[in-house]
Amino acid sequence: METTHRVFVGDSRDLAAIDDASVELVVTSPPYPMIEMWDDLFTGLDPAIGDALESGDGRAAFDAMHAQLDRVWAELERVLVDGGIACINVGDATRTIDGSFRVYPNHARVLEAFESRGFDPLPDVLWRKPANSAAKFMGSGMIPPNAYVTLEHEYVLVFRKGGESRGFEPGADRRYEAAYFWEERNRWFTDLWTDVQGELQALGGDGEGDLRDRSAAYPLEIPYRLICMYSAYGDTVLDPFWGTGTTTLAAICAGRHSLGSELEEAFVERFDDRVPAIPALSRSIGRTRLERHREFVTSRLEAGKGFEYEADYYDTPVVTKMERGIRLREVDAIEALDGDSDDGNNGDSDDDNSSDGNNGDSDDGNNEYGYRAEHVPLRLE
Ligand SMILES: C[S@@+](CC[C@H](N)C(=O)[O-])C[C@H]1O[C@@H](n2cnc3c(N)ncnc32)[C@H](O)[C@@H]1O
Repeated sequence: METTHRVFVGDSRDLAAIDDASVELVVTSPPYPMIEMWDDLFTGLDPAIGDALESGDGRAAFDAMHAQLDRVWAELERVLVDGGIACINVGDATRTIDGSFRVYPNHARVLEAFESRGFDPLPDVLWRKPANSAAKFMGSGMIPPNAYVTLEHEYVLVFRKGGESRGFEPGADRRYEAAYFWEERNRWFTDLWTDVQGELQALGGDGEGDLRDRSAAYPLEIPYRLICMYSAYGDTVLDPFWGTGTTTLAAICAGRHSLGSELEEAFVERFDDRVPAIPALSRSIGRTRLERHREFVTSRLEAGKGFEYEADYYDTPVVTKMERGIRLREVDAIEALDGDSDDGNNGDSDDDNSSDGNNGDSDDGNNEYGYRAEHVPLRLE
């Protein structure tokens, strides 16, 4: 099986390169309004935002930032298929403006935006992120009543486009082979994830600290789980706030196609550095899932409970009939696709001799990067 992965360097307020109804799942994390690290980016999208911040009008800045995100949500509505799912990872912001401290409820504003576009909200997930202990106590320490609770969670808001779930042909292999184990279902489909660790994504190389700080990457576990939960093999996953490409990395490891769009070409260029490690990463994820399943089998048997079914492709029992067809995959090979340039340049714009397969084309201001991955059933040894 082959999957393709395309990333556009550009503004997701206009996703013209992506066809209507061509995406089954969106997994993304926007820049969070009213988190200071994104002020300049939002001001670049609408200068009135900078004016509002400067004049101390936090509420106006918050509204204007969300107005920019709304334009991306409108594009998601267009490109998603009926019954397609959008998973939006977002955190609220706390901020003092003009001497006044308050919370800016991003999750509530995004929920409202999707609902008003006709999406159906589905139960959401809260995940616990590691807190910076220095920032843990806000306000006046041990004396009531002016201390504030620290935000240590983020949301994954989940929406379905249209009132009906997606349909599949009966017995569709690509759906049954993408099934998850019963105990994974129990862990993933809870509304509180406490077992996801925030990670500082290694972008590689010295002098990359600034890039890393600016990426605000989420842990791979988040998009990987969501992709397994809400899509089947062969589906296409879109991230319109692509950043360092964590969603694409997860989609490749999970055997789905992906699309992405990102303003900052510097982030996109760095993805090439991560590509050589993808086959080993995908194998390790698949093997870890199987190992965890075997541990679950042992503990369930020790607890005196039995199993009614055997997996078709693995030497292991499973709890339900639906898990029998599970077939994990690993990436056998991955290569860069040719870019969209007319000059046949398949190299980085700064280095035509590049052998890294980096396929951006810097001349037309509309760069596109792409990868093709070949997947095979998970090798067990
Ligand atoms: C929170 S970060 C996403 C991080 C990503 N999930 C990862 O794991 O690396 C948000 C990203 O959206 C990008 N961005 C913001 N507004 C955008 C827009 N209008 N179009 C495209 N990308 C945008 C920013 O440059 C930033 O990289």
